[in-house]
Amino acid sequence: MGKNTTEIRYSQTLTEDVLDLLQAYDPNQQFLLCDTHTATHCLPTLMQSDQLQHIKVIRTQAGDAHKNVEALTEIWKFFSQNGATRKSILINLGGGMITDLGGFAAATFKRGMDCIHIPTTLLSAVDAAVGGKTGINFNGLKNEIGAFHMPKAVLIHTPFFKSLDAQNRQSGFAEMLKHGLLSDPEYLSSLLQLNLDTPETEAFQLAVKRSIDIKYEITTMDPTEKGIRKALNLGHTLGHAFESLSHEQHRPVLHGYAVAWGLIGELFLATKLCGFPVSTLHQMATYIVKEYGRFELSDSDEARIMEYMRHDKKNEGQEINFTLLSDVGTIRLDQFAQPQQLQDMLNYFRTCMQS
Ligand SMILES: NC(=O)c1ccc[n+]([C@@H]2O[C@H](COP(=O)([O-])OP(=O)(O)OC[C@H]3O[C@@H](n4cnc5c(N)ncnc54)[C@H](O)[C@@H]3O)[C@@H](O)[C@H]2O)c1
Ligand SMILES: [Zn+2]
Repeated sequence: MGKNTTEIRYSQTLTEDVLDLLQAYDPNQQFLLCDTHTATHCLPTLMQSDQLQHIKVIRTQAGDAHKNVEALTEIWKFFSQNGATRKSILINLGGGMITDLGGFAAATFKRGMDCIHIPTTLLSAVDAAVGGKTGINFNGLKNEIGAFHMPKAVLIHTPFFKSLDAQNRQSGFAEMLKHGLLSDPEYLSSLLQLNLDTPETEAFQLAVKRSIDIKYEITTMDPTEKGIRKALNLGHTLGHAFESLSHEQHRPVLHGYAVAWGLIGELFLATKLCGFPVSTLHQMATYIVKEYGRFELSDSDEARIMEYMRHDKKNEGQEINFTLLSDVGTIRLDQFAQPQQLQDMLNYFRTCMQS
């Protein structure tokens, strides 16, 4: 396998697959990073095997607030004190917080050691663990410091999603809806039928696989986000603004909820700018309001949303950059809306939230 490719395995027998990969990569030392929750819910599954007992485990605090330089320093120290080298390997067992933090620790220690991600949240399986973006929050800014570092392998073990709370499952699912919109109507409609309470079903596993394929294909074509990778920003320009506003107003929402609501507004823009079908917009808006609930906006919130969108790091110059669609599966990168169209988008969004 090349430097920039990742082996993705769907694993029912996790310990066997981990052992198999370790044998193939033959690292001189093996480390595992988990957080306090995945130490309880996921680590015991791996540690059933006597052959994995020697792995040196690093536990960090759970939650995005700990994806920081202090946690990173602890990991570097642990590596140093335990004789890690460039030939060692780090297994990241956790959600996106762990795959980002551990991925970055692996990218930077001794100028880079290998890592394997075992994503334990739906969001990390279909999004964070695939594509090689790693990093930490710094100075109050999300993902301010980071590096591209492809994991050698990603192991998907869907039984882990059973201990995940319903909101985190719903949040990860928003990225799958985005994948459905970016790819094809058939996949999208199968997602709208999916029951998120039963992650062990074949239908669920197939959908996870399909989403990972979509994310993997796009990020392999454009690993450093020069072009098509921007497609993955669908729903995120407005979604990030909702997410930031929710934190500022002490009514925090999970990332995927903000993205789902962001999709409503951005698909509305897509109908105006790119001819996206109005009937699909209405279908998606109805589904999202039903499954994700409502995010209320006041008149003064609208001005904050505009400011957040103007400061989105994806913009170049003054204009707000959107990824839109002219139909399900037909992507339009680098779209720019007029101020009145942005106002109409927020009006439509608020109407949906009141219906
Ligand atoms: N690198 C990328 O491309 C990329 C993409 C999307 C998101 N991200 C990053 O991912 C992070 C969000 O990921 P997340 O939503 O997975 O958050 P997370 O890793 O913080 O996990 C959410 C919560 O679920 C717990 N948890 C994890 N697995 C569990 C399980 N199986 N059972 C019970 N509890 C479990 C965690 O301990 C945590 O409390 C953010 O830091 C975000 O910036 C990165
Ligand atoms: Zn996202």
